[in-house]
Amino acid sequence: MAVIECQFQDLAVQLFGKNRRATGISRSSRALSNIIPSLKNLTVLDLGCGVGYMTVGALRLGARRVVALDTEDIQRLLLQNVEINRFSPKAAKFQKSDLFSTLRKGIKFNVIVANLPQHALPATPSAKKLRGKYGGYDGTDLVCRALTEGAYYLKRGGRYFGSISRLTNFRRTMTIADSLYKIKIRKTITKTLDHNEMAPYLTDARLLEHLAALRKQGLIEYKINKHEQIEYKVHLCEFILK
Ligand SMILES: C[S@@+](CC[C@H](N)C(=O)[O-])C[C@H]1O[C@@H](n2cnc3c(N)ncnc32)[C@H](O)[C@@H]1O
Repeated sequence: MAVIECQFQDLAVQLFGKNRRATGISRSSRALSNIIPSLKNLTVLDLGCGVGYMTVGALRLGARRVVALDTEDIQRLLLQNVEINRFSPKAAKFQKSDLFSTLRKGIKFNVIVANLPQHALPATPSAKKLRGKYGGYDGTDLVCRALTEGAYYLKRGGRYFGSISRLTNFRRTMTIADSLYKIKIRKTITKTLDHNEMAPYLTDARLLEHLAALRKQGLIEYKINKHEQIEYKVHLCEFILK
């Protein structure tokens, strides 16, 4: 298994990747890490935990306990990653879960950290095969559900840290979030779309056509840069439960 050496804020973190091709943690995950404050003695829910970058990071920031959820069966890897960073495996609990579906009724956290898939894709069976990437027709399906349902799992004044892409229907997400949270955009980064991420299920032409149609309707925002890549902004946001 490949070991990924990475930074969570200015802290060195080591992670076993899913396979030998796993070379790192995405830019938006790293950028999201930078807006998370001290979590001393707080309880944290890591939504869409993957191999545990945010889980380990939250423990490094002092979290008392982390519950990590993902649709993938990744418990062994996540707990291994907690251990190689010198935390007791008891500090984190993994549950295989579609968003909050397996959480015990009534459980509440101080903080939710969520870096969920948000690729806007046509609602075709081939797009849905892009497991872990599909964010629905305008990219907001998972993020909006996570924000609205997340409010039930946060303590009063609890905070949700998440990345929100402009290659999704940003206005829809923010309108829905505004009804429940005070919103703070902490940082903005520029990203380019890696078309290969979508192969082999979605051809470039299909994807580009879909994005162009959404942009024409004013739902998403991007530009084509001088390297002919799709360039878009991602906002790293803090949502404070009202
Ligand atoms: C962009 S990765 C982020 C991984 C990790 N949190 C990080 O920051 O490096 C998104 C993760 O969300 C998971 N995911 C996708 N759909 C989900 C859902 N409905 N419920 C829970 N997790 C989901 C994927 O399996 C993937 O591990």
